[in-house]
Amino acid sequence: MKKIFFLLLTVTIIQFAQKKTFEQRADSVLALMNLEEKVGQLIQYSDGYATGGSTVGPKENMEELTRKGGVGSFFNVIGVKAIKKLQKVAVEESRLKIPLIFGLDVIHGYRAIFPVPLAEASSWNPSLVEKSARWQAIEAASAGLQWTFNPMVDIARDPRWGRIMEGSGEDPYLGSQMSAARVRGYQGKDLSANTNILACVKHYAAYGGAEGGRDYNTVDLSERNFRDYYLPPYKAAVDAGVGSLMASFNEIGGVPSSASKFLMTQILRNEWKSDAFVVSDWNSIGELIPHGVAKNLKQAAELGINATVDMDMQASAYYMHLAELVKEGKVNIKLVDDAVRRVLIAKFKLGLFDSPYKYLDEEREKKNVMSKDIVNVTKEVALETLVLLKNEKNVLPLKKDIKKLAVIGELANSNDDVLGGWAAQGRKEDGVSILEGIKNKIGMNTKINFVEGCKVLGEDKSGFEKAVEAVENADAAIVVIGENRSMTGEASSRASIDIPGVQEELAIQLIKTGKPVVIVLMNGRPLSFPNLQKNASAILETWFAGIQAGNAVADVLFGDFNPNGKLPVTFPRSVGQVPIYYNHKNTGRPHNPGDHYTSYYMDFDNTPLYPFGYGLSYTTFEYSAPVLSKTQIKKDESLKISFSVKNTGSVEGSEVAQLYIRDLVGSVTRPVKELKDFAKISLKPGELKNIEFTITPEKLKFYDINMNYIVEPGDFKVFVGTNSVDVKEARFSVVE
Ligand code: BGC
Repeated sequence: MKKIFFLLLTVTIIQFAQKKTFEQRADSVLALMNLEEKVGQLIQYSDGYATGGSTVGPKENMEELTRKGGVGSFFNVIGVKAIKKLQKVAVEESRLKIPLIFGLDVIHGYRAIFPVPLAEASSWNPSLVEKSARWQAIEAASAGLQWTFNPMVDIARDPRWGRIMEGSGEDPYLGSQMSAARVRGYQGKDLSANTNILACVKHYAAYGGAEGGRDYNTVDLSERNFRDYYLPPYKAAVDAGVGSLMASFNEIGGVPSSASKFLMTQILRNEWKSDAFVVSDWNSIGELIPHGVAKNLKQAAELGINATVDMDMQASAYYMHLAELVKEGKVNIKLVDDAVRRVLIAKFKLGLFDSPYKYLDEEREKKNVMSKDIVNVTKEVALETLVLLKNEKNVLPLKKDIKKLAVIGELANSNDDVLGGWAAQGRKEDGVSILEGIKNKIGMNTKINFVEGCKVLGEDKSGFEKAVEAVENADAAIVVIGENRSMTGEASSRASIDIPGVQEELAIQLIKTGKPVVIVLMNGRPLSFPNLQKNASAILETWFAGIQAGNAVADVLFGDFNPNGKLPVTFPRSVGQVPIYYNHKNTGRPHNPGDHYTSYYMDFDNTPLYPFGYGLSYTTFEYSAPVLSKTQIKKDESLKISFSVKNTGSVEGSEVAQLYIRDLVGSVTRPVKELKDFAKISLKPGELKNIEFTITPEKLKFYDINMNYIVEPGDFKVFVGTNSVDVKEARFSVVE
């Protein structure tokens, strides 16, 4: 015990000393800088924009700007050669030789594209997600990058919002696990290793709360809702040591994030004690003008720096006005110094001052970009992201010796859409389509008949007949439908969340043939398809599963991998139910079918199409009733809950056991369920495993009526189960 204590003390002292050193070193550089050079460190441009010609770009080209110390960072500069050229100018030709930091949106891979983040969250496997980020970092670092604008951790309860695909879904607990895992994966243990890159948690904050799910739209949340549900994943990233944050485009309650002292100063700096630097989103400081809180770019710059938004991405607000604002006495130089210090510390942590070319090795780039190893990892990850939504009569898995197989749908033959949105340097020639994956999987004895049937978009049904004929002549059919990769992501909100075009109609016609039909969905958001859900026997949700999508999906379709993904977000029956999420409040009039004056829709059930946490397996699991170590605890005590899960089927499988709680009476209303823990376990047929979760005071805390973050005494329900609905419960109480 003593030994551990001294070890921890030593580690803390070393960490403290190192931090000191970074700060001291940053200060020694700061002392040499003139005002223009200081401002320069706070400016970031994208390749292309800064080469002139743009109305908002600087007058110098990238090299000139770098030479005079007028820029701190570039992004979208691709490849070691191009990055090296600019870094050389910075460290050999600028007065103070301060290295640049190069960033890119490595959201789910640089060139080797992994499943989209929402899909990765479906794995409910933080160590796998960490591994994914680790490999993404290795590849991106080999391409010369030192910074990714990820993880995106915005909680999203609205599938109309296209960027739901970039995050981890609707839940603060799962979202926080994924957030921290990605930060650990990107940054590694030691940021100075040239395989590690700086992470940037975004979009701070609550960008996913856009009204109507329309991108960039207004967000208005009560502080309680904001702190309880939206804030935790950003905090988790900060606790995991994230090196930077990105201010979001949106306003919250009238204050745009890029001007928000509440977010930046009060929460980030004062409450969380973070010294991570903040970069604006693309021109989000400039957008303070259309938001209507700045009359011009100069005032926008003043608001941004005053809120401690340290780096101005693309707005040129700091470039044009920050030095002038300081000279006029409108901005205190201390604010600028603090911002510069934070940026310099990040560069020191990355080791860029000591070795500015350490990421820039063309040989390494050739070796590591799209290496065989990383491609294999993309498949390993993809397998765990696939969610089996329905499997009646055990249609799945299909037999490999099937004689005639029909494969239908434009998406089945797409090696591009599998990449999903925000695919950095991903190329379609690296993508394995579902059709190709199936062909790779099954032998020459199976005749595959691919028919498109219809396009993803549009009303053309002329291909239906041929598709029906193909299915009639086959032993089974795989029908791949959903969204194009460009239908989710930034600026890709949809007012409808139906399966686009006539695809669902086609699928229904194919099901009517009576042949075994497997629906494979490809999409970046929850879709609503109640009719298809009712009629189809088998549905597999594959999201956008990355370059190895086809091979991973084929493994599941033909039984070489038993699916174990679970939904990280609720699937509505209809867009009219949105926002719909599992951790909702009970209301004063919870729905009672016998009572008209209760909370429900006249035309739709209150329940979702698929609940949060849902996902099937080729085997079945049985949960025992949970047993509590105590039924009464004090506010600062913990209790344990144990139960067993048994594999009652005939194949090996993995299950995600989930723990939810409900605080029955509080000083403020509490959700009907809140995820508090989960465990992914693998079980052989007949095998039984015991699971134990600890309910700590931290898991019971919330913002009370006075906005204090505390445990309140009272009665709690605790639930364990295979998803947020199918659960077994127990009760305990907390006393003073
Ligand atoms: C997006 C960010 C992204 C940035 C830089 C913006 O439009 O909102 O998520 O990191 O562009 O590419």
